[in-house]
Amino acid sequence: MSNVGIITVFGGSGFLGAHVVRALAKTGARVRVAVRHPGSAYRLQTASGVGQIQVVKADISDEAAVAAAVRGAATVINLVGILHPSGGQNFQRIHVEGAGLVARAAKEAGASRFIHMSALGADAESQSTYAASKGDGEVLVREAFPEAVIVRPSVIFGPGDGFFNRFAQMAALSPILPLVGGGHTKFQPVYVVDVANALAQISQSPATAGATFELGGPEVLDFKQVLELICKVTHRRPWLMPLPFAVASFQAAFLQMLPNPILTMDQVRLLQADNIVTGKAGLKSLADLGIAPTAAEVIVPTYLWPYRPRGQFSESAA
Ligand SMILES: NC(=O)c1ccc[n+]([C@@H]2O[C@H](COP(=O)([O-])OP(=O)(O)OC[C@H]3O[C@@H](n4cnc5c(N)ncnc54)[C@H](OP(=O)(O)O)[C@@H]3O)[C@@H](O)[C@H]2O)c1
Repeated sequence: MSNVGIITVFGGSGFLGAHVVRALAKTGARVRVAVRHPGSAYRLQTASGVGQIQVVKADISDEAAVAAAVRGAATVINLVGILHPSGGQNFQRIHVEGAGLVARAAKEAGASRFIHMSALGADAESQSTYAASKGDGEVLVREAFPEAVIVRPSVIFGPGDGFFNRFAQMAALSPILPLVGGGHTKFQPVYVVDVANALAQISQSPATAGATFELGGPEVLDFKQVLELICKVTHRRPWLMPLPFAVASFQAAFLQMLPNPILTMDQVRLLQADNIVTGKAGLKSLADLGIAPTAAEVIVPTYLWPYRPRGQFSESAA
């Protein structure tokens, strides 16, 4: 059993969260998963003897629930994030106020470690509300908990991801895929297991206190190359149609009215900046943790194959 004490994870029921909870449990940690809907996190329970996982109910905008969730925790990890506003959830409430509230509560409860999940491109001055809110959230986290570790990944891939699955689904359904802005935006897709292992290592390494990590995969791919990879893996041949940012933004103005929009105007603004590791002085990376990142080509075929046309589930012999 790990001697790091209780680790409270907010957002542990999400795509990344499930992997983080598993990586922490493997170290023998006692993990308290704080979620809005406890039922969504019961699948994370491990067999006895492999860590200990407790599920508690907490919305990160509920001060009392957050305080209860961090009580007695030595480490607090905040993975809560949204891709677009919906219902009562918006970027200011979740990425800014929620992040600040969790960091303050962790400090007041006496936690010694705080890890905050931000994103590459986080910048209070960004034109994108998503990226600006991630930047504002980082500022509040640092104010409340100066030794916090901030983690900024590029787009994360793995079974159940939002990005690769979404475009694979579109490639399977539509004869056209839009190359927003011509498809030149650069990404550095990073494997969810590498990100989860990085967080588990950071949680066990006091030397990382106060650091900011940028997490990217082994290769830089532009948006067109990402879509080409998805099409290759799924045996789909849609027309990759270049769509200028202005046109994409106009279309997104209508699409974003849907309950689960495939594109919002804010995402079009986000796509106007590359999403890759900057390597700026003072920032840390997966290499600093001794993690060799996994390539998308190795993992993506293992979970995108169900999007292939019926009868094309195996590779033909060369
Ligand atoms: N996936 C990526 O490519 C990527 C890239 C860069 C950065 N990130 C960041 O990494 C983090 C995790 O991303 P993800 O892909 O795992 O997202 P996700 O699957 O959507 O998970 C988000 C988590 O936040 C929880 N949550 C949402 N609103 C909440 C609230 N008001 N109170 C408490 N919990 C709330 C969700 O739980 P319920 O909704 O079930 O309550 C869920 O557990 C986010 O901060 C995201 O911005 C992700």
